Amino acid sequence: MHILLLGNTGQLGWELVRSLSTLGSVQGMDYPAVNLAETASILPLLRGVRPQVIINATGYTAVDRAESEADLAQAINATAPELLAHEARKMGAVFIHYSTDYVFDGIKGSPYVESDDPNPLGVYGQSKLEGEQAVAQAGGAALILRTSWVYSLRRDSFVTKVLAWARQQKSLRLVSDQISGPTWAHMLAEITAQLLVKAGTDPYAWLAERRGLYHLAGSGYCSRLEWGEAILRFDPRRQEQIVQEILPAVTADFPTPARRPLFSALDCTHFSNVFGLRLPDWEQALQLAMSSLPQAGEAR
Ligand SMILES: NC(=O)c1ccc[n+]([C@@H]2O[C@H](COP(=O)([O-])OP(=O)(O)OC[C@H]3O[C@@H](n4cnc5c(N)ncnc54)[C@H](OP(=O)(O)O)[C@@H]3O)[C@@H](O)[C@H]2O)c1
Repeated sequence: MHILLLGNTGQLGWELVRSLSTLGSVQGMDYPAVNLAETASILPLLRGVRPQVIINATGYTAVDRAESEADLAQAINATAPELLAHEARKMGAVFIHYSTDYVFDGIKGSPYVESDDPNPLGVYGQSKLEGEQAVAQAGGAALILRTSWVYSLRRDSFVTKVLAWARQQKSLRLVSDQISGPTWAHMLAEITAQLLVKAGTDPYAWLAERRGLYHLAGSGYCSRLEWGEAILRFDPRRQEQIVQEILPAVTADFPTPARRPLFSALDCTHFSNVFGLRLPDWEQALQLAMSSLPQAGEAR
């Protein structure tokens, strides 16, 4: 299987390189070698590579900055995926694309299913929603995997930030009114690879029958406060923490340029019904992720 992976140095992309490598050849590309904001560069790239599978792990993911860079967010999150999906269909390649829980406004009060109406609160969510819609309309063997609160331990993420804050501050304030499902990038990459294994020798035909939008995030959900508490509990170098208290805060205490949904957990039942796969409970995944960090006394 020849796989073109766009965004191979991002949180998810870095993990995908490793998870997909047993399936065949993986050609990874990232900015600036490919700039998805310049659509003219995309077609020659695809036609030169002629992959069987295209995985788009890129994204304009700076939620707050997107409010003042709407055109750039739109180009990377909506225009480029549209072009990629069309070209994938024309060349008979599978297209896998990722989207976000931030397409929802967060007022439903229970986990969102795929048929719930999106209503993004900010430019990032709006641009991702337009990307989803364009990919769906392109047809072919396209999967749109909507996920939430993606973290890795090797790039800046909520997990690495909480670990750093706990070493710098005696008191932490984390919001208790933002709720979703933390998703370890490593496991999202692994389940993407498992999906391609299931797709067998003719992945285009198999996935064309199952194309469409799926929710795929760590099982269960929690607030950012609960997530932060779990991060500190599973920290293998707890003795380095100087933090003495974690105080609950509300989103309104930390004004940001972009509004975020308060409750945006995703119900992933449809994905597990169709593919027989599911991501583990967010807390178990976090514990496993944290156990891969060096223990006290080990070299970093
Ligand atoms: N992070 C989350 O909490 C979250 C939640 C829900 C959904 N998602 C979605 O999941 C996917 C992966 O997210 P992630 O957290 O892995 O993102 P990430 O770590 O921010 O990585 C994004 C990747 O896209 C690349 N990129 C940015 N602009 C580009 C451009 N103009 N041309 C080519 N490549 C470009 C980045 O390259 P550079 O590093 O060089 O900029 C990076 O490799 C995205 O679709 C995102 O919307 C993420």
